[in-house]
Amino acid sequence: MSNGLTVAVLGATGAVGREFLDLFEKRNFPIGELRLLASTRSAGEKILFRGQEHVVREVSAEQFEGVDIAFFSAGASRSREWAPFATAAGALVVDNSSAFRMDTCVPLVVPEINWEAVSPNDKIIANPNCSAIILMMAVAPLRRLAKIERLIVSTYQSASGGGAGMMQDLLDQTSEVLAGRPSTPKTTPHPYAFNLFSHNTAINSEGANEEETKVVEESRKILGMPDLRINVTCVRVPVLRAHCESVTVEFDGPAPSEEAVREVFSHAPGVRVVDDRANNRFPMPSESSGQDDVLVGRIRQDPSNPNGLCLFVSGDQLLKGAALNAVQIAEHCIKVRVSV
Ligand SMILES: NC(=O)c1ccc[n+]([C@@H]2O[C@H](COP(=O)([O-])OP(=O)(O)OC[C@H]3O[C@@H](n4cnc5c(N)ncnc54)[C@H](OP(=O)(O)O)[C@@H]3O)[C@@H](O)[C@H]2O)c1
Repeated sequence: MSNGLTVAVLGATGAVGREFLDLFEKRNFPIGELRLLASTRSAGEKILFRGQEHVVREVSAEQFEGVDIAFFSAGASRSREWAPFATAAGALVVDNSSAFRMDTCVPLVVPEINWEAVSPNDKIIANPNCSAIILMMAVAPLRRLAKIERLIVSTYQSASGGGAGMMQDLLDQTSEVLAGRPSTPKTTPHPYAFNLFSHNTAINSEGANEEETKVVEESRKILGMPDLRINVTCVRVPVLRAHCESVTVEFDGPAPSEEAVREVFSHAPGVRVVDDRANNRFPMPSESSGQDDVLVGRIRQDPSNPNGLCLFVSGDQLLKGAALNAVQIAEHCIKVRVSV
């Protein structure tokens, strides 16, 4: 520990991977040696970290030898392929993909909410889906006020949730439309500029897309409420970075007062209330981008249901929805010396 940890980032060249490097610098993460891993496409690329050039290497089993903590953000199939090598080499894997999230042997963790799910022998800790983390940050603190019975959620998800390629695609499509040229989507199934569409993942036989299924299943696991009723609609909107969510929380009795809700949020780590009715100023992606905190506002009673409370939430899903949450998990592990 005195010389720092050996840390690997698989997916270091991606949208989430780049955020890891920023966070390591900002939070003074105790790194002795950093290994940047990706595919053959970007092997050899140089990335500056703490003023020094680091060469990106193609991932291989040898790259995990001697690694203390491996952050994975290169997709679920890569996590399934490489996690066994990393853990066999003695590394703790903090995985951003969906590969292990619903595995009953793997904790799915938002440190502010369910750190107790982690045990000292865990070799893999899963980072939840970005929309699920942002939702949970707003919903979990409310459990102190009353029992939650049901959630109704609509998401407004940005391009960055689809990775660096989708962000560039949104910029390109927007430029093409503004220039009056035909626009050709490369990563999106439909025109993205000046448009929105149902989340670009496969639909199951019940009509839910994969993102919606993840939000439902993962929220239940994080809260430890396997029967919680949740209805989610996930939509991709032409915003570059940071997701928003419209949330109705239904309690088992009359919804808590707005004052009580504000009071609870004022003590919730990682949550900031932005709820300025006089100036019509509420959570926006332009304000949550680059922020660690999840912004919560439009706090009001549901006029259609005395047990309902409405919220509007915005969070940077590359940060709290991905890299920041994973780094916080690792920091907790270092603090309590779990597996490292
Ligand atoms: N974006 C988000 O907001 C978000 C939030 C939560 C979780 N996640 C998860 O995080 C992961 C990465 O997302 P992202 O948004 O950062 O995607 P991205 O910008 O597309 O980056 C993908 C990264 O994975 C690497 N990669 C792809 N195929 C590989 C292979 N065969 N072998 C080794 N490396 C490979 C890429 O390296 P090359 O440069 O070599 O292609 C790149 O570094 C995904 O599992 C995603 O579900 C993303």
